[in-house]
Amino acid sequence: MNLKELVGIEAATYVKDGMIVGLGTGSTAYYFVKELGRRVKEEDLQITGVVTSIRTEEQAKELGIPLKTIDEVESVDLTVDGADEISDDFQGIKGGGAALLFEKVVATYSKECIWIVDESKMVNKLGDFPLPVEVVPFGSHNLFRLFEAKGYNPTWRKTDAGEILLTDGDHHIIDLHLEVIEDPRALADELDKCVGVVEHGLFIDMISRVIVGTPEGPKTLEVPTR
Ligand code: A5P
Repeated sequence: MNLKELVGIEAATYVKDGMIVGLGTGSTAYYFVKELGRRVKEEDLQITGVVTSIRTEEQAKELGIPLKTIDEVESVDLTVDGADEISDDFQGIKGGGAALLFEKVVATYSKECIWIVDESKMVNKLGDFPLPVEVVPFGSHNLFRLFEAKGYNPTWRKTDAGEILLTDGDHHIIDLHLEVIEDPRALADELDKCVGVVEHGLFIDMISRVIVGTPEGPKTLEVPTR
């Protein structure tokens, strides 16, 4: 069993009958959703899933997981999602799979969020992984120039065919190559104030637990209350 599968299965043990469950996106969350599908089928687990992307919606439907949209529920009991980087103080970068906006919306309305990662995602400081910034197409080339001027080394997220990618929300993504983010909270505030930025991949104070896949097995880290 690979480390992603290991943590996906471990995270599914936190899901109980009657829960509304946020279903993350990416190659790690895939295994969480797969395990939930198995439990729905084989153990008659009664849950309602809320997806964070079209990709996850397709997977959940194939597995027969009952779904509602985020707008059909007032809150989500537990969301389990992957992450691209998690710092020592449990802040994260997400959006490597381009689903950051819907992921952050679902996380915002979740009573609890767990991230599942293999150990390579645990870092001292954030920033080695490019920070995704989701932007409205209108004016986005000016935002790109602004990020260049700030020295943020922006690149357009492209499809395999080399075209500028369109997210599930019909936006573009500009990746910032920052190397190290000394103050994630300050950068998040700065990006929040940029006109045309819909959302960014800095997830600040959003989780209560991380399950890390190690060769010795899944390791659960509790995030201290802030
Ligand atoms: C999707 O946009 C992302 O936020 C993913 O959750 C993140 O990139 C982790 O993906 P993997 O589990 O595939 O590494």
